[in-house]
Amino acid sequence: MNNPVISVILARQSVREYQPRQLTPEELDALIQCALRAPSGRNAQPCHVRFCQNAAMLREMQVDFKNIVGWDTPVHTRSDTNPFYHNAPTFVFLFAEGDSRADAGIMAENLCVAAQGLGLGTCIVASVGALFADEVRGAKWRAALEIPAGYLFQLGVCVGEPGESPEWKPRRPAQIRVIE
Ligand SMILES: Cc1cc2nc3c(=O)[nH]c(=O)nc-3n(C[C@H](O)[C@H](O)[C@H](O)COP(=O)(O)O)c2cc1C
Repeated sequence: MNNPVISVILARQSVREYQPRQLTPEELDALIQCALRAPSGRNAQPCHVRFCQNAAMLREMQVDFKNIVGWDTPVHTRSDTNPFYHNAPTFVFLFAEGDSRADAGIMAENLCVAAQGLGLGTCIVASVGALFADEVRGAKWRAALEIPAGYLFQLGVCVGEPGESPEWKPRRPAQIRVIE
């Protein structure tokens, strides 16, 4: 089917290497608008969202993260040289109250599809949750990101110009059936 939205959805894949260039103000604004338009249960809009473009802050977070999970554990980061944010120039943190993971996930995919439409790459990241689950270091970074009390890290999203063309990950079409 020749449809631009479907083509963008089908073209999205997780990107784990990025070019250094930062998002343009127009790209950033488009992503913020698409995050805001994400649907949420009862329109509760439970997410607090932080678009972090501070490379020094992300690097310091990576050190704290690795000090918690261990320096010899890849934990979805491939290696210590490819941090949880995969060196993306922008990393979006999604925080919400405890039972709002679905809302955060829907917003994350809105961001991924919108970014894909702009020719940008993305990767959804849950692994850094271990950092925010840590009592001391988690509180430190929640404060640095100005997250209100009671809001928990749900997901992150790397965004930037792709620096790789990954292999396509296989899917399991047999898990989808049409019942007539
Ligand atoms: C809820 C969720 C959590 C994920 N967490 C991570 C992560 O912590 N680190 C990472 O590199 N990729 C992470 N991913 C990306 C998945 O590994 C990826 O979507 C999956 O392998 C399918 O590949 P594709 O996105 O290229 O189709 C996550 C994806 C989702 C949806």
